Order: sequence, then structure tokens, then C-alpha cells
Amino acid sequence: MTHNVSAHPKVDRKTGELLCFGYDVTRKDGKGAVSYSLFNKDRKLLLSTVIPVTSPRMIHDFIITQNHIIIPDSPMELRPDLTVKESKFLFQFDKNKPSRYGVMKRNCQNPDQVQWFETPGHMVFHYVNAWEEKAANGDDIIRCFGCTQDSVNIDFEEEHPFLSGK
Ligand SMILES: [Fe+2]
Repeated sequence: MTHNVSAHPKVDRKTGELLCFGYDVTRKDGKGAVSYSLFNKDRKLLLSTVIPVTSPRMIHDFIITQNHIIIPDSPMELRPDLTVKESKFLFQFDKNKPSRYGVMKRNCQNPDQVQWFETPGHMVFHYVNAWEEKAANGDDIIRCFGCTQDSVNIDFEEEHPFLSGK
């Protein structure tokens, strides 16, 4: 495996599989991407793949179900221009942009097969749980729980003025 890993890899307690992802905001093409890797219970790497996201973004956590992974793609965007010009935190939340959730089979290696679902813009730093269900009409449903925020301020100087000398 050659990609970074976020703070929240997941272990499937039934299968022993380890699933992890890392977001990349340093690509030479300037685009955002998430790398995903799946290991078996003996920690042998089974696959790694790269999933494009909307733009270079902070993605702190992801979601797994019995058969799928879900990549959150929310507008917590890399804004080095605002860091340089206005001393703002490197990532800024833009509530006017939508969020998306990318659903993919755990063992998929083709990012073209990710199904994207768009929602109003929000941020979830940590997800609680998710699982798969069948609807009454037979449709597949994924239920996911997390605490959503439609406003995020992680500006260090505003939150900690005593450390910035203000
Ligand atoms: Fe965390």
C-alpha cells in the first residue's frame, strides 16, 4: 500500500477485514482524490484503488457496511489562497456547495462503478454506524448515522486567540 491513511480505518468484526482510506490534497493535477485499501484478516493487502472526489478536500472519516464502503465528499475544501491572504485555516467549509456520498462494493477496484448520491452541503467529522436493509419493495437501502453540521469553523486563531497573540 502506498497511500496515506486517515485517522479512522475500520475492522469488520465478523470477517476480520481491515478497510482504510486516505484523502490526497497534493496531487499534481490539482484534483481531489481518495485512496482506498482492503486487507484480509491476516492483513494481506487485497486491493487498493483511487476514487476521484469533487476537489481537494478534508475527509476525516468514512463508512462501511456489510458489502460496501461509502466515501463522504463534503465541501471542506483546501483553500491555501485564504491562508496566505487572510490567515485563515487551510480548510474552509463552503455551505453553498453540495455534499455527495459515493457508494462502492468493498471489493471494487473500478472508481467508475461508484454510485454518487448528492445532498445539501454539510459536514460530518465522525460517522456512528451504517448497515444494509431491504425496503418493502425490494430496493437495497443503506442507513447511515452521523452528526451533521451545516456550519463549520475550525479557524485556529478565532478558536484560540490566546495562542495567536490576539
Ligand atoms: Fe477523528
